Amino acid sequence: MVTFFIKTYGCLANVADSEGLARYLIDLGCAQVSQASEADLIMVNTCAIRDKAESKLYSYLGQFAPLKKQKPYIKIGIIGCVASYRKKELYQSFDHLSFVYGARDEMPVLQSYLVDAIEKIAVLKQLFFQDPDGDLGGKNGQDRDVKELVAKRNISKFLGGSPRGNALEEFLMEAVPSSTSPEKEQSLNISEYNLKKHIQDGMKKAQNNASPEVKRSYINIMTGCNKYCSYCIVPFTRGREISYPMKDIISAVIKDIEMGSREVTLIGQNVNSYIDPETEARFPELLKQVAQIPGEFWIRFISPHPQDMTHDLFDVMAQYRPKITAALHFPLQSGSNRILQLMNRNYTSQEFLEKIGWIREKLPGAAISTDIIVGFPGETEAEFLETMAVVEQVRFDLIYPFIYSSRPNTKASLIADNCLLVEKTRRLEFLRKRQIEIAVQCNSAHIGKNLKVLVEKRLARGKLLSRTEGNLRVLVDGSDDLIGQFVTVHIKETGPANMIGILVS
Ligand code: 5AD
Ligand code: SF4
Repeated sequence: MVTFFIKTYGCLANVADSEGLARYLIDLGCAQVSQASEADLIMVNTCAIRDKAESKLYSYLGQFAPLKKQKPYIKIGIIGCVASYRKKELYQSFDHLSFVYGARDEMPVLQSYLVDAIEKIAVLKQLFFQDPDGDLGGKNGQDRDVKELVAKRNISKFLGGSPRGNALEEFLMEAVPSSTSPEKEQSLNISEYNLKKHIQDGMKKAQNNASPEVKRSYINIMTGCNKYCSYCIVPFTRGREISYPMKDIISAVIKDIEMGSREVTLIGQNVNSYIDPETEARFPELLKQVAQIPGEFWIRFISPHPQDMTHDLFDVMAQYRPKITAALHFPLQSGSNRILQLMNRNYTSQEFLEKIGWIREKLPGAAISTDIIVGFPGETEAEFLETMAVVEQVRFDLIYPFIYSSRPNTKASLIADNCLLVEKTRRLEFLRKRQIEIAVQCNSAHIGKNLKVLVEKRLARGKLLSRTEGNLRVLVDGSDDLIGQFVTVHIKETGPANMIGILVS
């Protein structure tokens, strides 16, 4: 049996893609393992959003070179956003890579590649174990050497008994010479939509977690982005927006609920610019349809853009609360209008605050989280303080703060940046520290309340981790039977990251 391991970096869209691929491979008869060293097929799903994520990837990849030498039949592949735009560099820098497929357009090609690849791995693995010191073991293990191997040994004879013998033979004969351009190798044209079907169908099949954990469903409803925020690489790695048919999304949710999912997260780079390609229905309509699916489960979505936040979205959320959770990720990025304009965010801080007002009015007690970038090129101290002023006014439950990172192809990368990293780091720390104080105050307002939570899993420290409708963490004592259950907890204590509760029901 072919074993596989997937390492995932980045956003929930990547998590959903990796889970889909895992289910797909399981359907093909492979087994998922938790250590790369035990896998015959290793895939790394990459994130390009910040330079740091990319650097982490490079050091991570280096460690697989000895593994490929030891076991030359294994295949190591890079997928996702870095693969979209650094394909050549990846092939050139890492000899031990077998394949590189970018996010989105190349994913369907990846799937058809995997069907063949796992059979080839099985055969090469068998060959290797029959004769570990033979040609396959003796070389440096590149797929690029396979052609030579085929020429030397009568492999087609060996393959004769295999039902997929021809496909295997073809692969071995076509083995990629190092000079072949990856683009050429990946020029098949299978529609993006087919990929979604594959991934979503695959996702339904199995939720075979060993340790008990609540079942969650992550469903990509759209991909890509047309917003072109000046700092962001996503439109270049994931391409322009594509929404998937609403009827397929609905049937995917229904199947996941039938399989025991207790929480459905609708995912898209720009989730609220969703538009059904068949009926032109917009995101609020999709949410409504999902909420009307019978069953006790929570619905979340990530990430919306403030520009596309409309009254009807909050109306639907209010109508179906708490099934549609009153939790909003509302990315501010900056509180300075000059910086927002340079970022191409299409709203002012006043407009942002106005929409926060709508949320507070229509969804009282809603949890609001945000993303903030500090140190955008040319950001002055006064402009940073404008961001802090919005933070003080909104009092977000959670902030994901980032130091600006220059990304290739983006407009912002052309703007002169005279702010030193040490200053940017100071701003980040200032924001973080203040946010912890705000979170402590926000959380302490829950002391003495009874809150409905979904129990997620047992933590190493022994307590159960559960989450409120607003996605806030509550630790509680109880048995494993509670995992996956909605229960009520009485909040006794709170801190910046966790609240402590006692089980009421
Ligand atoms: N530098 C820093 N942060 C970035 N983000 C996106 N691009 C960059 C960049 N170049 C942040 C934004 C976005 C989140 C997912 O990542 O805040 O909302
Ligand atoms: Fe990037 Fe902006 Fe699109 Fe979000 S909306 S993915 S930050 S370009």
